[in-house]
Amino acid sequence: MRRKLVVGNWKLNGSLAANASLLGGIVAGLDGGADCGVCVPAPYLAQAQALLTGSPVSWGAQDVSAHAAGAFTGEVSAAMLADFACRYVIVGHSERRAYHAESSELVAKKAIAVLDAGMSPIVCVGETLAEREAGQTVVVVRNQLGAVLALAGERFAQIVVAYEPVWAIGTGKTATPAMAQEVHARLRAQLAETNAISAGAVQILYGGSMKPDNAAELMAQPDIDGGLIGGAALKAADFLAIIHAGK
Ligand code: PGA
Repeated sequence: MRRKLVVGNWKLNGSLAANASLLGGIVAGLDGGADCGVCVPAPYLAQAQALLTGSPVSWGAQDVSAHAAGAFTGEVSAAMLADFACRYVIVGHSERRAYHAESSELVAKKAIAVLDAGMSPIVCVGETLAEREAGQTVVVVRNQLGAVLALAGERFAQIVVAYEPVWAIGTGKTATPAMAQEVHARLRAQLAETNAISAGAVQILYGGSMKPDNAAELMAQPDIDGGLIGGAALKAADFLAIIHAGK
């Protein structure tokens, strides 16, 4: 049986003071439910580690360099993230694909860098509205995930997949549970092409306007194993409600 997992993606939000209050509220309010974590901006990893060590809340980063070291100004390596005991690193978020022109091949290299450093990449896949309307959803997400699987081989068992339809991110429009389940089932079938037993254990999260009022229904679907939460992860009460919906 897969455990539910709810991960907050803080994006470009936070400050030392705001983070302390948010993380304090989450830790104080936790009462069972899904496993949980927060992916914070890199400068706040030391703070997250200090405040969350010994708590049930994991932490991680939102991106990573595909390179191990060298002349790559501004980049942060997987080993650096591992130095702060990150458990998860998001790779291939649609905002990075769109605003930083990240290809699926680059995303795959980043996922491998994360695996090599002993952490779990949260590999994001998802179609744009135009792609959905053109009937290309299945092909788009298959290609995005396929690039990672081609490099990861059997190590795919260590990844977390996040299906995030681009048109649902930050828009208040959520995929219906049935729409999301259909894609999640396809993604799991694709994982099973490498190893059916491992595929049954991989957590596939849904992301895109998941909120307290729709989380339980989404997570009740057989292949939706939790959520990657943007906006609603910035308020302790909302984030806790989603975690608690993942019983
Ligand atoms: P949202 O973002 O919950 O604000 O839609 C999700 C994400 O981008 O990971």
